Amino acid sequence: MKIAVLISGRGSNLQSLIDACSDDDFPVDISLVISNKADALGLKRASEVSIPTKVFNHKDFSTREEFDTAMSDAIEASGAEFICLAGFMRLLSDDFVKSWRDKLINIHPSLLPSFKGLHVHEQVIERGARFSGCTVHFVRSAMDEGPILAQAVVPVLPDDTADTLGARVLEQEHIIYPLALRLIAEGKVRVSGERAIIDGHKTPNISLTNPEK
Ligand code: GRF
Repeated sequence: MKIAVLISGRGSNLQSLIDACSDDDFPVDISLVISNKADALGLKRASEVSIPTKVFNHKDFSTREEFDTAMSDAIEASGAEFICLAGFMRLLSDDFVKSWRDKLINIHPSLLPSFKGLHVHEQVIERGARFSGCTVHFVRSAMDEGPILAQAVVPVLPDDTADTLGARVLEQEHIIYPLALRLIAEGKVRVSGERAIIDGHKTPNISLTNPEK
């Protein structure tokens, strides 16, 4: 399966996908990385392994729809049939989300549907949650909504800062994003209503950090 990855910054999740794809057994190739920021570190990570990159600065477009159409055209031209958002900090238009329905996934650093939006780790600590984690989900029009593909859970420790908690969560992000992508590429995922159902798993919406068990 050929994919495009959309980023805005550091690109550590992109790196986890690049690393996974470097394994011959992993059924995915990255055909394009798009960033809306020219200085995104993720662009360098892609170039280092000769993955084509494109920058679309949202400020160069008068509407969100025009920006999204330009990205969609580039994604299709690259041959990609599936999109992974990896720290892409722009909201997508309804048309874009609809035209890539069930072919567009995101990773979010909380246990959705709790703690949507920005400053997630701060929110988690402020509310005194005992556990946090991360979620890979199909994208729907509403922010951080959509059928859940994979989640991983981490403890929130009493002396955690947003940075220490974020680092603990990020480690799990790098495990579950490639895992969720592999399940899709292997044709093991179907969407039924608002649930993503994974073949062979009776309870798909739990941590799948070890899919063999
Ligand atoms: C990650 O925490 C991801 O969950 C969120 O944005 C962050 C991106 O980090 N959507 P990186 O650019 O992948 O390092």
